[in-house]
Formats: sequence, structure tokens, C-alpha cells
Amino acid sequence: MSEKKIPVIIDCDPGCDDTAALLLAFRCPEFDIRAVTTVSGNVSLDKTTYNALRVTEVIGTDVPVHAGADRPMFREPVYAPHVHGEDGLLGIGLPAPKKTASSVHAWDAIYREAEAQKGELEIIAVGPLTNLGIALAKYGDLAEKIKRIVIMGGAAQGGNVTPCAEFNIYVDPEAADLVMKSGIPLCVCGLDVTLKAYLTAAEIREIKAMGTPQGSLFGAVTEQNCEKVFCPAGAPLHDPAAVLFAAYPDLFTAQRCWMRVETAGELTRGKTVTDCWSDAQKEANVDLVLDLDRERFAAKVKALMAEY
Ligand code: BDR
Ligand code: CA
Repeated sequence: MSEKKIPVIIDCDPGCDDTAALLLAFRCPEFDIRAVTTVSGNVSLDKTTYNALRVTEVIGTDVPVHAGADRPMFREPVYAPHVHGEDGLLGIGLPAPKKTASSVHAWDAIYREAEAQKGELEIIAVGPLTNLGIALAKYGDLAEKIKRIVIMGGAAQGGNVTPCAEFNIYVDPEAADLVMKSGIPLCVCGLDVTLKAYLTAAEIREIKAMGTPQGSLFGAVTEQNCEKVFCPAGAPLHDPAAVLFAAYPDLFTAQRCWMRVETAGELTRGKTVTDCWSDAQKEANVDLVLDLDRERFAAKVKALMAEY
């Protein structure tokens, strides 16, 4: 591990797997987490912000939480209570937070931190990309100040909201396409890899058996999210996959390719149009993460949770 930590902002919509991602990220010694920013996504912005506050309190960190967009850039909000529960955390009843969100909007916090980190800031974006879309629209020189964005979103093949689209991209395709066109180095962990980034029920029980409040929370938000249809082997850790990719890329396999987002189509809204090998030979703009070493991934998740 290099001496210098990676300055990171986690942009999220907690959310069950966002919660697991936060729990893991705050135990990655590679990261210097500067802020958590929240966005409308799995549930409304007031709920994702409230959840980020109470989850960071369980983690025991004072890192600021900045609320961002309460709706997509040009569309009505879409939520996923059927996956994450009405409150976004399956009603598991975490205590109310003592701290409150910062008065600085997410997009301003992203810009300020990008300037402060002098080109070293990385963003791990695991919700709809609205905050980044707004930040790019507001600050014309932002793109050159961000080192990299690791995105959980999209799918080269298929989708989980429609046959074409994954949730985070489907919710705000215009924002996602702004990010794709931004010129910022991008790594995309879509469903292609995140459905392979699962924990088995037995592995989740091991983490719960660690006996820490953080392990209990990890278990509570993970065990009920076994997507039996898409991922029969266990619970896919969509957002944690992006966190672990950012810290431990050697666990994963990626391919350079071109990616944009369909914003105009009715049937294809939010499709991440992906060109790995067509005759069009588009110039690559993303590292598309397609595979991982599942056993090493699961071992790393357990090792990080054992640090609580
Ligand atoms: C993504 O959508 C959300 O429901 C999850 O939090 C994850 O970010 C998976 O498609
Ligand atoms: Ca998410």
C-alpha cells in the first residue's frame, strides 16, 4: 500500500447496499474519506440523508454529510422501496442521528474538495449521478480537477429496472450521460460485475457473528437483499463492489471501452450503450469492470468488517 491515502468522496443514496458500501469504505486504510454526499434515489433525499447520518454514526465517523439533489436533473424521481423498504433501510430501526447534515450542497462540497485536493480527488458514486451532473453543469472547470470517478451503475448487458437499464442510470440518464461525456477518467462497475460480487448466506452470518454493531448492521441490510432471481448464490453487493474496486483493483478485471447513456429512447431509457468491439470503433472513455475473483472479494469484505 502506498503511503499517501486516496482522498475520496462517497456519493450515495442509502439504501441497503449503500450502507454496506459505507461500512466497508470507512475501514479501507487506502482511503481518506473527505465527505459523504447524498442524492435522491433508492428513497427520497430527506431519507437518504437521514440514513447517511445514522449510518455514519454507527461507523463512528465525523466526516460531513452533504445533501444534494432531491430529484433527477430533468425528470421526476424514481424510488426503490420494494428493494430497500419505505425508509431505505428495511425498517430495521437504527437510532436517530445526533449530528445533522452540512449546510453546503453536495455539488459545492464536491467542487471545493476537488480544488482543495489539487487534482487528486476520487469520487465513488453509487447512486444516481445527479449531484455530479449538477456539479459539472455549475462548475465548468470541475472535470479537470477530479482524478477519477468509480461508478456503480449501468450494465453492458441487460438491466434490473427495465430489460435495458440499471437503476442508478435509469433514474437520471441525463446526469449519467453528462458524466460519461465529461472527460473525467471513469471506471464503471455495472451489473455485469456486481451480480458476481455476492456474499453467501453463510458468509453474511460470519460477519454478523463478529458481534459488533457494525457487523450487525451489515448483516441486517444485506441478508434480506438476496436477489434470488438474478443472483441465486447469495446477496449481490452492488455498491460495495465499486468501493472495493476503488481500493483493490487487482481483485477485478476491466476492459477499456466506449460508453454513453441513452436519454431519448422510450424502451431504452438509461441504457448504457457500450462499445467494446463494434465496427464503429468509438474512442474508449471508461474502464468497464466485468469480472472479479469472488473468493478474494468475499475474503476482503470479511477482513474489512473484522476491523470494527
Ligand atoms: C443500484 O441501485 C440501487 O438500488 C442500489 O443501491 C445500487 O446502487 C443497483 O442497481
Ligand atoms: Ca446505491
